[in-house]
Amino acid sequence: MSAPNKSYDPVEVEALKPEEIERMRDEALAAFAAADSLDALHEAKVAHTGPASPLALANREIGALPPHAKAEAGKRVGMARGAVNKALATRQAELEAERDARVLVEESVDVTLPYDRVPPGARHPLTTFMERVADVFVSMGYEIAEGPEVEAEWFNFDALNFGPDHPARQMQDTFFVEGPKGDHGESGVVLRTHTSPVQARSLLDREPPVYIVCPGRVYRTDELDATHTPVFHQIELLAVDEGLTMADLKGTMDHMVQSLFGPEMKTRLRPNYFPFTEPSAEMDMLCYVCKGESVGNPDRPCRTCSSEGWIELGGCGMVNPRVLVACGVDPEKYSGFAFGFGIERMLMFRHNVEDMRDMVEGDVRFTRPFGMEI
Ligand code: DAH
Repeated sequence: MSAPNKSYDPVEVEALKPEEIERMRDEALAAFAAADSLDALHEAKVAHTGPASPLALANREIGALPPHAKAEAGKRVGMARGAVNKALATRQAELEAERDARVLVEESVDVTLPYDRVPPGARHPLTTFMERVADVFVSMGYEIAEGPEVEAEWFNFDALNFGPDHPARQMQDTFFVEGPKGDHGESGVVLRTHTSPVQARSLLDREPPVYIVCPGRVYRTDELDATHTPVFHQIELLAVDEGLTMADLKGTMDHMVQSLFGPEMKTRLRPNYFPFTEPSAEMDMLCYVCKGESVGNPDRPCRTCSSEGWIELGGCGMVNPRVLVACGVDPEKYSGFAFGFGIERMLMFRHNVEDMRDMVEGDVRFTRPFGMEI
């Protein structure tokens, strides 16, 4: 009988020696114990239980042993691996529990702490009111249009049928950015004095039918005082289509004041003159406070309308055919109506603001009471 094949004895195969297996096991246990985070433990796990770990490599050696040696070596390696896996699971559970406890502390919210008392800002009533008015028209299918605040004199005046000598062009009213350059009718550049130039721009940009509403800032050379400001806001309305009449204008205006102030509201038109509308009218709306009942009734005076029963809103009229022609629209086929009014004035009577300067100074104590309106 030949001697056992010593070189295949697990004791003799270097990686399978008991003290080697013990060393591998102890190293793994030490590495797990030293891991102080789940990431570190994951690294130790790969190093000590992964396919390239010493114990896995030792395990592979077993296959080459003679049958009688396999069992013993397998038991030894298996027990070491069992101990390693158990230690790993224990450490994993410990570290997860630590993490969960830490998250509970770190992410807790103290609901008894005082809340952030920095007062939030508020939207300016001019902005919110302009949006409300624009929304009334958007819901009727109108489109919001825009134009530049630094405007060509041609759009601000000429296209709108203001004659070359119209007094509104004078320096007393208009901020000129650049005067006309010569005697050949070249256009100067102004800060727009009204939103009406957007009418001309919209007609040049689009093919009729055109239904636009344009809220925006306008400029005039007025001193800032209780009732004037050199920068203020207007809303412009323009509808150009086939067959539009003054009745459409009136109906649209009535709908606007009813949407803004209530179903019992109405408007009235008084003759007026604007170069860009013909006929032109001044539009009044019923006083939304007294509904006209203060008129001739000294027992019930109304501060809002000074007992007149009506409040002046703005200018309007049928678009002058000359404007249509200047913008390339055939006045035989199309007609239109337009309307424009100042927002500041409207806000003054709507909220009893007595001094226009309050609206432009930007003091949040003025703005905040309106700030909730959206
Ligand atoms: N643009 C005029 C102004 O600022 C107001 C105005 C009047 C606008 C009649 C219009 C209109 O659209 O038809 O005083």
